[in-house]
Amino acid sequence: MSDSKDRIYQDAKGAVGAFEFDERVAHVFTDMINRSVPGYAMMLEMIGVISRRYAQAGTHCYDLGCSLGASTLAIRSNLEHFNASEDKPKVIGVDNSAAMVERCRVNMERMPSAIPTEILCQDIQSTPIENASIAVMNFTLQFIPLAQREDLLHRIAVNMKSGGAMVLSEKIEFAYADKQHTLFDLHHDFKRARGYSDLEIAQKRSALENVLVPETIEAHIERLQRAGFSQAYLWFQCFNFVSFLAIK
Ligand SMILES: C[S@@+](CC[C@H](N)C(=O)[O-])C[C@H]1O[C@@H](n2cnc3c(N)ncnc32)[C@H](O)[C@@H]1O
Repeated sequence: MSDSKDRIYQDAKGAVGAFEFDERVAHVFTDMINRSVPGYAMMLEMIGVISRRYAQAGTHCYDLGCSLGASTLAIRSNLEHFNASEDKPKVIGVDNSAAMVERCRVNMERMPSAIPTEILCQDIQSTPIENASIAVMNFTLQFIPLAQREDLLHRIAVNMKSGGAMVLSEKIEFAYADKQHTLFDLHHDFKRARGYSDLEIAQKRSALENVLVPETIEAHIERLQRAGFSQAYLWFQCFNFVSFLAIK
């Protein structure tokens, strides 16, 4: 993984353009996400724990919006109990950023594994989901247009084996203004504590406006249930960052 420091929003910009997962972001992404998402390392570890329990032989484990492959590796490194099996699960990472996919493929090759792995450069909205036992969307659904989120989750649930699991991690918003302000401010304090300046925080926030569209915990849980998951729980929250576990 890249260890370059994120300085993208360090200097004042006249107009801040919309955020994109381009070459510049891919180059610093590991540092960016670690300093922006409270609990990110713990979420990766738990994606591994969840994958170990719910991945089924002969099925597909999807990492949708895989970026540099951090979650893909967390899934794959927890499937080694299938190494000797004739019927290993296959790990499929998908991202539509060519800059991310190129680096992700290199990261996968650096960590050889007996588990078959494919990294696809495509829009997850057109990725066929087949025979899934694991589906991870670690901070990806928030970038999908609101009107298309339910169809995507429904397609995942319908094509998931009974007993399979989905991990959905998201930045969220709150219906109550006081809670929204308190937890939002604490997230900014976290970013300051990790070395971002007020200017960097303000410019990144402006770049993400209308690109990352957060929803409430309730909206996520209700949609996971409508999509066809029999159980949907919040298993992690730190300020305005959460992760859900949904079981088919
Ligand atoms: C915040 S990053 C995900 C981080 C990653 N899952 C991890 O755990 O490190 C969001 C990723 O989703 C990808 N993405 C956004 N919309 C997408 C789409 N429609 N199809 C495929 N990938 C998409 C972006 O290119 C980006 O790499």
